[in-house]
Amino acid sequence: MATKVRWLGHNCWSIITGGKTLLLDPFLNDSPSAPVKADAVAADYILVSHGHFDHVSDAAAIAKRTGATVVANYEICQWLGKQGVKKTQPMNIGGAIDLDVGRVKLTVALHSSELPDGGGGGSPGGFLLTLADGKLYFACDTALFSDMKLIGAVGLDLAVLPIGDRFTMGPDDSIAAIKLLEPRKVAPAHYNTWPPIAQDAEAWAARVRAETKAEPIVLKPGDTFTV
Ligand code: NI
Ligand code: MN
Repeated sequence: MATKVRWLGHNCWSIITGGKTLLLDPFLNDSPSAPVKADAVAADYILVSHGHFDHVSDAAAIAKRTGATVVANYEICQWLGKQGVKKTQPMNIGGAIDLDVGRVKLTVALHSSELPDGGGGGSPGGFLLTLADGKLYFACDTALFSDMKLIGAVGLDLAVLPIGDRFTMGPDDSIAAIKLLEPRKVAPAHYNTWPPIAQDAEAWAARVRAETKAEPIVLKPGDTFTV
C-alpha cells in the first residue's frame, strides 16, 4: 500500500502508511494556513521535531484525544507527559526506534528548541522514516548542513525541506541541500504561513527542475500526494 502524504500547512504533515497515520509537528488551531483544526485530525503517532510553538502547540491535545504515541526527543516527551500525555517514545539525536509502521530516526538539525513556556526543548531534530514502501526525510526547522549527504546516502524517495528563510534555510540553501540529499522527490515547507517567511514556491520548483535531479512537489495546504 502506497504511502500518502498530506500537507496541513507550515511544517505539519499527515503521513498515512500501513493503515496508520503519523502526524508531524501539529500546529493547526493557531496556524493561518492550516486547512483543518486540531480536533479534526487523526493520529496513531505524533512526531515532534523541536520545542517551538509552531511545531508543538497542538501535540498534547491531539495526543490526549486520539491516544496517539508521541515520538520526540526526551525533553519534549517529558514536557508533554506533565500535560497528561500517556504514551511517549523518547529519543535523542542519531537514535532510531522501530514502530509497527517502520523505523523512525531522529536526525540532527541546526536550529533552537525552546518550549512555549520557556522550558528547554532539548536538541532540535528532523526525522528519517524508513517505511515499507519508501524512505522519507523531513528536515524540519534547520539550516543547511553538509551531513545531509550522509542522510541522503540511504536513497530517499522524498525529502521535505524548509524554504521560508529567516528562521530556517531559504530557497538558495534548499537547492544546495537537494544536491546533497539527492532525493527522488522534494517538497517545500515552512513558508507562506506569515509574511516574514513568504516565498514563491513555483519559482523554487523551477530552480529545482533546472539545477537538481529531483522532482519538486508543490502543494497547497490540504493537498495530498502519493510518494
Ligand atoms: Ni523552530
Ligand atoms: Mn518553525
